[in-house]
Amino acid sequence: MRSEWTEVTESARLYGDTHIVWLTMPASFQAATPGQFVMAYAGEYGDPLLGRALSIARLRDGAAGREFALLFDVVGRGTDWLGRRVPGDRVRIVGPLGRGFEARTGVQRMLLVGGGIGCAPLIWLADDFVAQGREVTIVLGGRSEAQIFPSHLLPPEVEVVVTTEDGSLGQQGRVTTPFEELLPWSDQVFTCGPTPMFEAMHGVLMRSGLRKPAQALMEERMACGMGICYSCAIFPKRGGVKLCCVDGPMFDLRDLY
Ligand SMILES: Cc1cc2nc3c(=O)[nH]c(=O)nc-3n(C[C@H](O)[C@H](O)[C@H](O)COP(=O)(O)OP(=O)(O)OC[C@H]3O[C@@H](n4cnc5c(N)ncnc54)[C@H](O)[C@@H]3O)c2cc1C
Ligand code: FES
Repeated sequence: MRSEWTEVTESARLYGDTHIVWLTMPASFQAATPGQFVMAYAGEYGDPLLGRALSIARLRDGAAGREFALLFDVVGRGTDWLGRRVPGDRVRIVGPLGRGFEARTGVQRMLLVGGGIGCAPLIWLADDFVAQGREVTIVLGGRSEAQIFPSHLLPPEVEVVVTTEDGSLGQQGRVTTPFEELLPWSDQVFTCGPTPMFEAMHGVLMRSGLRKPAQALMEERMACGMGICYSCAIFPKRGGVKLCCVDGPMFDLRDLY
């Protein structure tokens, strides 16, 4: 897959340390699906050399055509560089990459669970499900209010449940409590966040005895994003070694632990 230049159309710090950057959408994105990601070459003159994996967080119609958003926390050099882009700057990307979420046909009640910046791929997924006329409940969890995606930026049809560990917004605690309560209601579960959250959700799923399909988006560190370097190998309980970038990043939650 070849890299393409995109142009920044809008850039802002959206909440806490989380930034959003809107970019012009290459034609290759026409067939992209929620849960897929791009490798963003975040730096001038090949420094840093490696791309940074970022989920496609949202799509929209801009003044000059379709645009896509990256929603990210500034954690190091690459995301710091990206967060300092202004409209008119160019960013080189490769994508869309990986296997995204796969919704079952004929199911209606979609339960989305995002831990911290794991909400990024779920925003587009929620937009998509609402456009398809499905019911969506999203659970957003974080350490404090500063890590929670603003609910007024989601479609009004989406039911939002917030948990924070310090109680600064929504219910005090972790996403697993509302996840357990909402599981019987849901037809299918989609989640993204830190791996300890996946393990806890897997425990809830197993204890419930309910056979709800559940997909998790794994965010392993990636160097190439296209199956060459093996830096993203994972060892799920079922199915042998997998490369997160090409076999995933979406995996069946039951296969992971
Ligand atoms: C498929 C996929 C999709 C992703 N989508 C998003 C997204 O939408 N928004 C977002 O903010 N982040 C996302 N990430 C994580 C993102 O790739 C890293 O935060 C980013 O590469 C950090 O680059 P950096 O140069 O700023 O930091 P670096 O200097 O490379 O690292 C800074 C710190 O971040 C940690 N780190 C780096 N990569 C990861 C990772 N993959 N997971 C956990 N910790 C990491 C490092 O250990 C270090 O502590 C995604 C990762 C993958 C694999
Ligand atoms: S990131 Fe290189 S093989 Fe997956």
